Amino acid sequence: MKAALLGHGTIGVGVDRIVKEIPGIEIVRVLALETDEEIIGRHTFSADDILGDPEIDTVIEVMGGIHPAWEFISRAMEAGKHVVTANKAVVAAYYRELLALQKKHGVAFRCTAAVGGGIPWLVNLSREKQGDRITKIGGIMNGTTNYILSRMDLEGIAFSDALLDAQKLGYAEKDPSADIDGDDVRRKLSISASVAYDCFVDEQMIPTAGIRSVLPEDLRAAREKGCVLKLAAFSERLEAGISACVAPFFVPRERLLASVPANVNLISLTAEHAGELCFSGQGAGRYPTAKNVVLDLLDIVSGVRCFYTEAAAPAAVDNGSTPTAWYFRTVSEDFPEDLVSERSGSSAVTKPLSVLEAFRLLDELRKKDPAVFMAGILS
Ligand SMILES: NC(=O)c1ccc[n+]([C@@H]2O[C@H](COP(=O)([O-])OP(=O)(O)OC[C@H]3O[C@@H](n4cnc5c(N)ncnc54)[C@H](OP(=O)(O)O)[C@@H]3O)[C@@H](O)[C@H]2O)c1
Repeated sequence: MKAALLGHGTIGVGVDRIVKEIPGIEIVRVLALETDEEIIGRHTFSADDILGDPEIDTVIEVMGGIHPAWEFISRAMEAGKHVVTANKAVVAAYYRELLALQKKHGVAFRCTAAVGGGIPWLVNLSREKQGDRITKIGGIMNGTTNYILSRMDLEGIAFSDALLDAQKLGYAEKDPSADIDGDDVRRKLSISASVAYDCFVDEQMIPTAGIRSVLPEDLRAAREKGCVLKLAAFSERLEAGISACVAPFFVPRERLLASVPANVNLISLTAEHAGELCFSGQGAGRYPTAKNVVLDLLDIVSGVRCFYTEAAAPAAVDNGSTPTAWYFRTVSEDFPEDLVSERSGSSAVTKPLSVLEAFRLLDELRKKDPAVFMAGILS
C-alpha cells in the first residue's frame, strides 16, 4: 500500500510512526500546513500532489473539520483511492454521500477511529449484525466529559477546574464546545445508529443536551439517589424508526456504565441472539486512535473494500415513547408544577416524561434560564 496523510497533528503523527513498523504499508506523502523533521522529503502544502498522484492508492484523512476534508475525501474516492478517516464530523455530515461514492467507485471507505478512538467499535458493530439484529446501542462515547464528571464526583471540584485539567492533559481542546455540549457524542451516535440499523440517522434529528452548566450540586443530587452522573448516548430500534438521544443521566451505581472511570469510554450493543456486548477502552489519544486507523489500513491491505453497511435510507427518529423521570435544576419560576414529582430548592424531579417531552421542557426553560441543567434518571 502506498498511502498519503492529510494532516500531521496528534493522530497523523501517531499513524505515521506506527506504520513505520509495519511491512507492506508506506506513507509516501504528507499534507501539512508546516513542515518538520519527520516529514522532510514527503511533505507537501498541496492536496493536489496527493489526489492527483496515481501511485498513491490510499488517503488517510486526519485533518479534522468538515471543509476541506469532505472535498479531499470525495476527490480521493473519485480518483479510485481508498479512504480511511478518523473524522466523525465529516462522516456524520456527509454520511450518505460518502457511502454512495464508496459504492460507485468500488473503493474502501473506513472510519473505525471516528467513533470510540482506540476502541474497535464500528468493526465489531458491523460484524455483530451478521446473522443477528441489533436492537439497542449506547453508552459513554466521550472521554473528556467522563473525565470532567468523574473528577467533579470524586473530588467535589468545580466544572471549570475539571475542564482546565482536562485541557492541560490534552483530553479537551482549547475550544471544548463540541465535547461539553454533546455535539461530539451526537455525531458518534448518528454514525453508530446508522451502521447498527442499516439506515441513515441524521445527527440533526438527535436531541442533545450537554454538561456546560453542570454544578457540584447536580452530582450530589445524583449521589443521593444512589447514582453517578454521566453524559451518555442511547438509541433503540423501534417498530417504525428509531429512538436516539444524548444527555446527562443519573446512572444507578450498580450498573457497569456508572463505574467507567476518568477518560475511558464504554459503548455497548444489544442484539437479539448475542445479548448485550460492551466495548471499553481509550476513546481518544494519539496512539490508541492511530492504532485503529492503522487497523483500517491493514483491513484494506487484506482485501476489505466496503463500508460497515450498504443501506442508508433515512430513518424516522421517534423519541415519544419509554418515559422516565428527569432531574431539572433551574432558577426559572415557570417550571410546570403539574409535572413535578419531587422538589428540592431550585431542582425538581419530574413525573415520567418521554425524551421528546423532556427536551421540549428544556427548550422552554432555557428561554428564561440559559444555565438550566437537565439529566435523565435511569432505573
Ligand atoms: N485526538 C484524538 O484523540 C482523536 C480521537 C478520535 C478521532 N479524532 C479525529 O481525528 C482527526 C484529527 O484529530 P487530531 O487530534 O489529530 O487533530 P489535530 O491535532 O488538530 O491535527 C490536525 C492537523 O491537520 C492540520 N490541518 C488542518 N487543516 C488542514 C489543511 N487544510 N491542510 C493541511 N493540514 C491541515 C492541522 O494543522 P493546524 O494545527 O496548523 O491547524 C493539524 O496539524 C479529527 O477529525 C478528530 O476528530 C481525534
